[in-house]
Amino acid sequence: MRTADSPPVNLADHERQARERLSPWTDAYFNGGAADEHTLRANQAAWSRLMLWPRVLCAVGMPTLTTTLLGRDWPTPVLVAPMAQQGRLHPDAERATALAAAAQGVGMVLSMQANTPLEHIAHDVGADPERGPLWFQLYHLGDRGWTLELAERAARAGYEALVLTVDAPIQGVRDRERRAAVSESSPLPQPHMPPASGAAQGLASLLQQAASWADVEWLRAHSPLPLLLKGILHPADARVACEAGVAGIVVSNHGGRVLDTTPPTADVLPHIVEAVRDEIPLLVDGGIRRGTDVFKALALGARAVLLGRPVAHGLVNGGARGVAHVLRLLLDEFSATMALCGLDRVSAITPRYLYPNPNPFINLNEINSRL
Ligand code: FNR
Ligand code: LAC
Repeated sequence: MRTADSPPVNLADHERQARERLSPWTDAYFNGGAADEHTLRANQAAWSRLMLWPRVLCAVGMPTLTTTLLGRDWPTPVLVAPMAQQGRLHPDAERATALAAAAQGVGMVLSMQANTPLEHIAHDVGADPERGPLWFQLYHLGDRGWTLELAERAARAGYEALVLTVDAPIQGVRDRERRAAVSESSPLPQPHMPPASGAAQGLASLLQQAASWADVEWLRAHSPLPLLLKGILHPADARVACEAGVAGIVVSNHGGRVLDTTPPTADVLPHIVEAVRDEIPLLVDGGIRRGTDVFKALALGARAVLLGRPVAHGLVNGGARGVAHVLRLLLDEFSATMALCGLDRVSAITPRYLYPNPNPFINLNEINSRL
C-alpha cells in the first residue's frame, strides 16, 4: 500500500508530500493563488484537456531534448521559473534549486526576490557546461538607476538574459494567504531589493511607480543583456513587445497568483503564436505538471517551458536532491512522450501532434511523401 512516505513517482506525489511538511502560511504562499483560484486550477486543466495525436512505427532513436534559445543550444526546453523566497522552503534555498537544475540540464531564472545573492548562484553553476540558461528576473520598481545597476550586476556575474516581469505591478488578492494570517516571523535577506519596497508600501505608491512601455524601451536600450518580458497574455501586448525589440516573451498569468479569472496559458498561447509569427521565441508557464504538458506547450509553438511550484515541492522534500528528482521525473515523461508520438528531436514537435489539429490532411501528405 502506498503511504505518504512512499517515493514520489510523479509531480503530484511530490506536491502531496511537500504540503504535509509546510506550515499553513508557507503552504498558502507557495501553493495558493489569487482570490477563488479559478486561474490556478484552469492552468493545469487546460493542458490536460489538449489531446495528443501520435504517429506509430517511426522507429525513432532515443529522443534528444536539445533546444535552441537566444542563439545557443541547451540540453532541454525546460527552465525553473523565478520564485521568490526559497529560503522559506529549505536552508539551501536558491543554491539547491540552481545546482539541481544545472545537473539536469534545466535552466534557472533567479527571482529578484531570492534570498541568495545572484553572484553566489552564478559562482555555483555558471561554469557547468551541461547546465541550461541562467537568467535573472526583475521588476521595474520605478527607479531606473536602481534597475540598471541590478541589470549590470547580473551581467557582470555571468547571467545571459534579463526577464522583466510585467504582470504584477501590485500584489494579487490572496485569500489563502490572508486566512493563514500569521506572517512569517523572521524576515529573510532579499539581497536584490531596494530598501523601501514590498508589502510595506501602499497601493497608490506602487501604482505610481508601475512600469510602462516607455520603461521597457528604455531598459531594452540600456540593458547589457537581452531582455525578455514575462506575464504577457494578450496578443496585442505581444505585438507591442515585438515592436519594442524584446528578445522573447514568457506567456504567463503568474501561476494564477495575481489576477484571478484570467485565461489559462495553454488557451492563450496559440493567439500569441499567431501575433508574434516566429519573430521572437515564446516561452510559457502555468500548470505544467507532466511531460505531456511540456510536449503540448512545444506543439502549440512555445520554444521552452518554465516550471514553478513543483520545484518548490522538490526543494521542501529533499533540497537539491528533491528538485533534481522533480526535474528528472518531468524530463523522463517528456522523453517518453516524444518517443510514443514518434519523434526524437524537439524541433519536430508541431501542432500536427495535437488532436484535433489545424490541418489533419498534412499527415496524409507526409505519409505520401514518405512512400
Ligand atoms: C512565483 N512567481 C514569480 N514570478 C516572478 O516573475 N517573480 C517572482 O519572484 C515570483 N515569485 C513566485 C513565488 C511563488 C511562491 C510562486 C508559486 C510563483 C511566478 C512564477 O515565476 C511562475 O510564473 C508560476 O509559478 C508558473 O506557474 P506554476 O508552474 O507554479 O503553475
Ligand atoms: C509572487 C511574487 C513574488 O508571486 O511574484 O509571490
